[in-house]
Amino acid sequence: MTNEAADLEATLLREHPAAARSLSALGRTLAFPKGIPFQAAQARGSTINATLGQLTDDRGHPLPLPAIARGMVGLDPRQTFLYAPIEGPPALREAWLARQRRLAGEPTVPVSAPFVTHGLTHGLSLLADLFVDADTDVVLPSPCWENYDLLFTMRTGARIVPYSPWTEGAFDAGRLAAALATVRGKALVVLNFPSNPTGWWPDPAHARALVDVILAHPGPLVVVTDDAYQGFVYEEGLHDRSLFWDLAERADPERHLIVKCDGATKELVFFSSRVGFLTHSATGEAERVITEKLKTLVRGTVGSASGPALSLVAAALADPRSDDAFEDRRRLMAGRYRALRRALKNLDPSRLRAWPFNAAYFARSSSSAPSRCRGGPSPAARRARHGHDRLPGPACAARRVLLARRGAHPGAGRGPGPARP
Ligand SMILES: Cc1ncc(COP(=O)(O)O)c(C=O)c1O
Repeated sequence: MTNEAADLEATLLREHPAAARSLSALGRTLAFPKGIPFQAAQARGSTINATLGQLTDDRGHPLPLPAIARGMVGLDPRQTFLYAPIEGPPALREAWLARQRRLAGEPTVPVSAPFVTHGLTHGLSLLADLFVDADTDVVLPSPCWENYDLLFTMRTGARIVPYSPWTEGAFDAGRLAAALATVRGKALVVLNFPSNPTGWWPDPAHARALVDVILAHPGPLVVVTDDAYQGFVYEEGLHDRSLFWDLAERADPERHLIVKCDGATKELVFFSSRVGFLTHSATGEAERVITEKLKTLVRGTVGSASGPALSLVAAALADPRSDDAFEDRRRLMAGRYRALRRALKNLDPSRLRAWPFNAAYFARSSSSAPSRCRGGPSPAARRARHGHDRLPGPACAARRVLLARRGAHPGAGRGPGPARP
């Protein structure tokens, strides 16, 4: 380990023991090199900025090719055509955090500035690199988004601890408590509400129970709220904000680091943007260390974010009409959700049973006919890999029903099949 990495680790141990004790072997070695991006960050805002790496005119303005500039009319040229800071443009990070606080009813708990990622998948893979090793338990709901398998095992060899949060068709936070009790040492827990593929979002009592279970754990725990589908909720009286805030307000830095992973993908209905954010409960010097480590990972992989996508997301955040436009899309989805609920009422429950659902783009049903989601591993393959097929309930097939397409109906799981979700 270099002296720089050792210094960062010492700082993190002092300022946020849970984060320090959760680092992977790779995470411990990360220290941002003092190359061009480091120098460019130092020079930003100074009168004479002589750092190289990109082409500008004598006044620092970008010089895009006309064919490219024509497609970017109305966007801020500097943000669009020049390299963004690796952690993301400060104004965009602030605007995203302001939006998140507004959606959550303005919680005052201090949290980090959101770190820009290349979509949520990238955000989760950064967390895997930083915190997950073969000696880490990754606690995942069952069923869960299939890609968690790749994200948390492909490069890390971590042990997956699957648990079903359902007891006889009702959500049961005790199942998470039981899974956490089997954790061997350090662990990373993924919460995904509204969830893929169950399309479920908690009510206030369920949310409180979940938070209590997690915060009772001795740690070190990294708790990730994958908020990909934030806002797509279709019933009244449910919990009113991301669990990130409930956890961050009560987290003990000796035991827990809470991380929110979200982004423009679904929240701004901009699937191709590849703009995501990581916001966490470590602030001050601990935030500086975590940011430096994340920057090092980004520098060594994707380099930095895409300027045009960042500009478009910044424009959406600055536009006061965006909330109403999102609400129109949420209502469209709510209409499909209600149509699905009506259709399910007319079906024979002995042949097709819907699991509880109230949110996101999915519902899940169990039928007496064996089948599996297209594109996902078979139950046998899952069992071979994890010793558990992660499809709880009776010995029947569980299939995902997609709401994100027109004509969603209980049999739709066979038709379109999972696209990218
Ligand atoms: C639960 C969940 N998390 C993360 C993602 C990935 O989002 P992104 O496309 O921004 O990588 C998806 C995509 O469908 C998802 O369903």
